[in-house]
Amino acid sequence: GEIEKGGYDHFMLKEIMEQPDALEDAMRGRVRPEDNQIHLGGLHGHWDQLREADRIVIAACGTSWHAGLVGEYLIESASRVPVEVEYASEFRYRDPVLREGDVVLVISQSGETADTLAAVREAHSKGIPCFGICNVVGSTIARETDAGVYLHAGPEIGVASTKAFTAQVTVLSMIALKLAEGRTLSKAELADNIRALAGVPDKVRRVLNASNGALQSMAHTYRYASNFLYLGRGYNFPVALEGALKLKEISYIHAEGYPAAEMKHGPIALIDRSMPVVFMAMKDSTYDKVLSNIEEVAAREGSVIAITDDKDAELESLCEAVVEIPQTKEFLSPLLTVIPLQLLSYHIAVLRGCHVDQPRNLAKSVTVE
Ligand code: G6P
Repeated sequence: GEIEKGGYDHFMLKEIMEQPDALEDAMRGRVRPEDNQIHLGGLHGHWDQLREADRIVIAACGTSWHAGLVGEYLIESASRVPVEVEYASEFRYRDPVLREGDVVLVISQSGETADTLAAVREAHSKGIPCFGICNVVGSTIARETDAGVYLHAGPEIGVASTKAFTAQVTVLSMIALKLAEGRTLSKAELADNIRALAGVPDKVRRVLNASNGALQSMAHTYRYASNFLYLGRGYNFPVALEGALKLKEISYIHAEGYPAAEMKHGPIALIDRSMPVVFMAMKDSTYDKVLSNIEEVAAREGSVIAITDDKDAELESLCEAVVEIPQTKEFLSPLLTVIPLQLLSYHIAVLRGCHVDQPRNLAKSVTVE
């Protein structure tokens, strides 16, 4: 109904705009800069099990799988525990190698995705502990997992997942910081990172306020494109995948996400004047490499759109459009870079007359195979 949309034209836009509040809710009482603590009651008693695991296997589908990929980078760097990310649908059908010492972590907004639920059951059938990250309280996956964390992001109605993704990445960041405590981070570094995490919702608010208008006009420019490429490195590689997925899901434009450096192994062949290429170009450890990837695209007359935290003349000279977002720590950047990608997809889909909240052929939760 119109009332539930809170004045927005679509649930998806409402949910994009709700992200600062959703992330605050996900962190409430859990991220505590005041006493330098991360508190996640749902995993209480399991931290040593995770820190001492031989391997953490993350299983999920769709957008939740993309959050899982960010989680792999976060958890490996924080804990040095090897992490593997599996499509739940593949995992369940190949008699996966699971051994004592492994821990399975499933991620599901709805908590009802059939393949992800099957991954829980697969783990349990092999005697492996399985934890969950779910949004829907009391969902099947939430009930069947041994322990876990709720997102507290509020109901997500739009089929294309937005606030659940950022809340999942927020929860995974909390888990990573908790695992890093006394391990890879000193007290002072931990405090610094906890403060940075607590500051994310305000920065998301700034991205939304500052870029929505510009992205809406960019949507007019790119609405007729038939292909898009999304490129990022490091923590922003999964964001490139997520940006491409959002565009495919709701605008029916073909889009691919790639790690930027893989471009030269294939996608570069596609680049010409009619190919918009969206780059995540944050001034982090990957920046110089990303900049040279941008130069390669610009040299082939591709239209570069860059998401950056440092809009300088060099970057501007190579790009058709630059979206500036606030700086943050490298490990938190997916929480900011994904926002302009959600908005761009949304506005393009609206201009193309698509059913944004209920795209053709897709379901909010896939409870059958
Ligand atoms: C469907 C939805 C996606 C979602 C995926 C996984 O494909 O359309 O938006 O990411 O399922 O859903 P889950 O509820 O398990 O996160």
